[in-house]
Amino acid sequence: ALTVILLIYFIFTPSFNSQKKQKGPPGPRPLPVLGNLLQLDLKGPYKTLLELSKKYGSVFTVYLGPKKVVVLAGYKTVKEALVDYDDVFGDRSPTKIVHELTKGHGVLWSNGDSWREMRRFALTKLRDFGMGKRACEDKIIEECQHLIEVFKKFKGEAFDTTQAINCAVSNIICSIVYGSRFEYNDPEFTSLVDRTNRIVRLGGSRSIQMYEMFPSILKWTADRKEGFKLAAANKMQNLAFFSRLKETLNPQMCRGFVDAFLVRKQNLEESGITNSHFHDDNLLITVMNLFAAGTETTSTTLRWGLLLMAKYPKIQNEVQEELRRVIGDRQVQVADRKNLPFTDAVIHEIQRLSSIVPTALPHKTTRDVTFQGHFIEKGTTVFPLLTSVLHDPNEWERPHSFFPAHFLDKEKKFVKRDAFIPFSAGRRICLGESLARMELFLFFTTLLQHFRFTPPPGVSEEELDLTPVVSITLSPSIHKLCAVSQM
Ligand code: HEM
Repeated sequence: ALTVILLIYFIFTPSFNSQKKQKGPPGPRPLPVLGNLLQLDLKGPYKTLLELSKKYGSVFTVYLGPKKVVVLAGYKTVKEALVDYDDVFGDRSPTKIVHELTKGHGVLWSNGDSWREMRRFALTKLRDFGMGKRACEDKIIEECQHLIEVFKKFKGEAFDTTQAINCAVSNIICSIVYGSRFEYNDPEFTSLVDRTNRIVRLGGSRSIQMYEMFPSILKWTADRKEGFKLAAANKMQNLAFFSRLKETLNPQMCRGFVDAFLVRKQNLEESGITNSHFHDDNLLITVMNLFAAGTETTSTTLRWGLLLMAKYPKIQNEVQEELRRVIGDRQVQVADRKNLPFTDAVIHEIQRLSSIVPTALPHKTTRDVTFQGHFIEKGTTVFPLLTSVLHDPNEWERPHSFFPAHFLDKEKKFVKRDAFIPFSAGRRICLGESLARMELFLFFTTLLQHFRFTPPPGVSEEELDLTPVVSITLSPSIHKLCAVSQM
């Protein structure tokens, strides 16, 4: 009788669970098939995740349709996962459409040895042809001059800055990848820029999000078809660029990333290694990754910056006063950053408030792990909620306001803040962080030296709308600004 009683107890007592230690993170109860979809604000899923973190804590589970996702929220938790447990939370979980397009190649969405090799190579080459090099600073400064010329043409009248900024920022990637820049009216270039931006936008569209959850039903959505068409056109265009570069390739004088990759591939083949990761698919997808990850992000941040300057003219005054006092009329250099604490604080605050990649890119666990007391299985998709860190009320005095003093001490010196992680953290940290920081600093300061940014006539500062357009990134809604020449 005792055995029967014990059996009944063990079977029916909810707390009995041989995997009690292995309890997963809490979360809202999912419906069959739909999961927590009905609770999700599809116009801004990250907003729902922020709300849920208030109820379920800093590690919780949501079901996007049938797909289980563990969300990490707040500075302490995100940092612990991405930095202290970086081997566990450091794989990428590619979305369905991305997997169809990249097949595990490249650097943005890949894993394992191929990712490691491509990341290492791309970082070295970004350094050789870009980041941390005087040559790169010069390229950006040259590009600033082109951008200023375009802005001047509007003679202070209101215009949308998007196209010109996209071209300027894309040209930096072109210089690093191909070894040359393009004119802003070159149709080959503008179509590459437009398609890359549309691909990034489509990646966050609602129908693509739904396709991720229900792939077999939503295979024929227009956005998915368009994504394939745009990616195919970009592939063709890149292949055409590659063959032109191949014709004039000089192994002693690599012009950019593509040359360096081709030379490495050739050297490996000549030494009889035929199964290396330096193959044509990795070249093509890595190049497309650098464009996708490196242009829309930087350009969107710059656009937020100019919009915030127009909205907060007193802060713009202070930046321009500092630039006049410290730099005067000469070109700003990266080395000037340390002498421009207020401007530096403003650039950091632009990135913090705009929080343009709210959920980072999806990560994936590499093994079973018990994290902060919660069991998370190997292969679980994980969203590090970067926006919850950049707006964490425990870390920031005024998390939802534009408040450059977050980065200034009492003596008005610039202070670094640990919770400033717009580029994420750990082993999947943004590969282009140094380049992006150099670009943001040089483009922003040079533009503010030359122009005063104001709302269009008849629009007040208060009327400038900061509500973001939600995609993979958060960008300003379509708007126009006046760039009034001051030099
Ligand atoms: C990844 C932010 C500019 C290349 C990322 C991630 C974020 C990010 C949040 C995802 C990290 C994660 O999943 O944990 C930004 C921001 C930028 C910027 C805010 C500009 C303001 C750039 C530039 C480049 C670049 C200029 C290239 C030249 C990459 C690459 C990855 C990445 C290749 C994938 C890294 C990997 O998975 O190993 N970036 N990024 N990014 N970024 Fe950036």
